[in-house]
Amino acid sequence: MAISIGIVGAGTMGAGIAHIAALNKFNVSLYDINEEVIRRSVEKINYEMKRSVDKNKISDDDMKMALTRIKKRTNINDLDTCDLIIEAVLEDIKVKRDLFKKLDQIAHHTTILATNTSSLSVTSIASATKHPGRVVGMHFFNPVHQMKLVEIVKGTLTSDETIRSATAIAEQLGKKTIQVKDTPGFVVNRVARPFYGEALKILGENVTSLEEIDRIVKKSGGFKMGPFELMDMIGNDVNFSVTESIYEQTFHEPRFRPSQIQQQMVEAGLFGKKSKKGFYNYEEK
Ligand SMILES: NC(=O)c1ccc[n+]([C@@H]2O[C@H](COP(=O)([O-])OP(=O)(O)OC[C@H]3O[C@@H](n4cnc5c(N)ncnc54)[C@H](O)[C@@H]3O)[C@@H](O)[C@H]2O)c1
Repeated sequence: MAISIGIVGAGTMGAGIAHIAALNKFNVSLYDINEEVIRRSVEKINYEMKRSVDKNKISDDDMKMALTRIKKRTNINDLDTCDLIIEAVLEDIKVKRDLFKKLDQIAHHTTILATNTSSLSVTSIASATKHPGRVVGMHFFNPVHQMKLVEIVKGTLTSDETIRSATAIAEQLGKKTIQVKDTPGFVVNRVARPFYGEALKILGENVTSLEEIDRIVKKSGGFKMGPFELMDMIGNDVNFSVTESIYEQTFHEPRFRPSQIQQQMVEAGLFGKKSKKGFYNYEEK
């Protein structure tokens, strides 16, 4: 029987994980506290898969079959039969701990509980459950259907069996995995912090415009996206929370200090692509 994956949080990452899981023949239960988000998320998956069909990356049949494998769930208790549950809600330790406490009660004792956190302590999230051995970090990257890497994060009490199963499933989803230690930001987000932080500092010092910073980084550095384009794609709210979290967890290491420019953008609701406005404007003309 096909393995079933429950996804909690149907935003940017939850939608992306549901997309690749369904295409790779997993049954998917997609849940969010906001029903409208689930509806939009399935619409987005539909749109992205259609683009893949147009580019001959998948067939029309692959798309149709994949879409039938995604079940919209409005009650978290309906995730009780899943073999793996991947959490992709806000980057907030309290929200995640409360959720894992609940998932621990709902799920079968063999179910793996994974968090897609970008920076938070998997050990702390796991300690909200009675079975920390089955809790693991599975850190996917955005956009999930294009980015090949998944960081598999071993919390202090994560069992070897859980690591093996999470790694095997990530590979069945077509991903390359690396196993990393449970530290703030793991590898990729730790390395990426100065990229965003320095770009925001240069902007704050009026050295040049954000468009120019993006252009220079792409042209002379060979990056696919500039830092401001990337922050808009990730979501300034998510990106700011991740920086805040790494700054707090490293006991206020000055290199990771969050930016006031980005804080104000979050306060103004300028999240980036998902809110149609960020450093750039994405509203249709
Ligand atoms: N955006 C990225 O580029 C990126 C990349 C890798 C990892 N992450 C991580 O993935 C997680 C989700 O990020 P995102 O960008 O998808 O965020 P998002 O804001 O797009 O989506 C979060 C979703 O969680 C839902 N939610 C909030 N509380 C909930 C709860 N208690 N139960 C169920 N649903 C709930 C919200 O309604 C929202 O739809 C975060 O931990 C983030 O750090 C994000």
